[in-house]
Amino acid sequence: MQPTVYKQSDSKVEVKGFEARHYDLLMNTITGGTYPFFIRRVIREMNIQPQDEILDFGCGSGRNVCLMTKYLSNQGRVLGLDIGQEMLEIFQERCKNYSNVTFKKQRIDEPLQYENEFDKVFISFVLHGFVQERRLQIIDNAWRALRPGGKFFILDYNEFDLEHSPFLVRLAFKAECPLANDFIARDIKSVLRDHGFDEFHTYPHYLGYVRLLSAQKSSKL
Ligand SMILES: C[S@@+](CC[C@H](N)C(=O)[O-])C[C@H]1O[C@@H](n2cnc3c(N)ncnc32)[C@H](O)[C@@H]1O
Repeated sequence: MQPTVYKQSDSKVEVKGFEARHYDLLMNTITGGTYPFFIRRVIREMNIQPQDEILDFGCGSGRNVCLMTKYLSNQGRVLGLDIGQEMLEIFQERCKNYSNVTFKKQRIDEPLQYENEFDKVFISFVLHGFVQERRLQIIDNAWRALRPGGKFFILDYNEFDLEHSPFLVRLAFKAECPLANDFIARDIKSVLRDHGFDEFHTYPHYLGYVRLLSAQKSSKL
């Protein structure tokens, strides 16, 4: 059988309308109420230091950014990038009392201007929603934005064989972005290694179907 060729227009990652306005509630519901515990654990795994400068690619409603600020001092900061108007409005309302949080309406799948500025780059449930060529651009943006020794955190689906997965997983994936099918078949670690990242760590979640993958921008540059 010929492998499916995905186009960017197949993607569902640009969350809009009802789904955007209720994104956090939908995630809580879909995960049977476990999402708030899961995401707190993920942010803990990032080992955020008080002075860290963090870039969040596709930051959505700002839920993750707010959790990050708990670990930051006034010297630390988070910059969130997203293109969704509804997401932007929710983010701004939620983060209005944090002086060290900013938001920019900016695409992450085109070349960005950030160079050696950040200690951490985070991307959560966004990377799967792009064709591989755009994923490579996003990885390049992360690499450039990080200082040597800085860390790239990808929270997304793990690699797995969907065809041989339990019925419920196959069912859940029917509602997912079609590009996620392509993403789970990719060896993202080797792509990152080819791009100059090393020191990989994997933190499995949801029976290993989801992972937080951390990769370090080589400090030997
Ligand atoms: C599935 S949501 C994840 C939101 C957030 N990262 C989270 O985990 O809660 C995907 C997000 O990516 C944003 N997005 C999609 N395409 C984008 C692009 N090209 N540039 C920047 N943000 C994008 C959407 O607006 C949406 O907020």
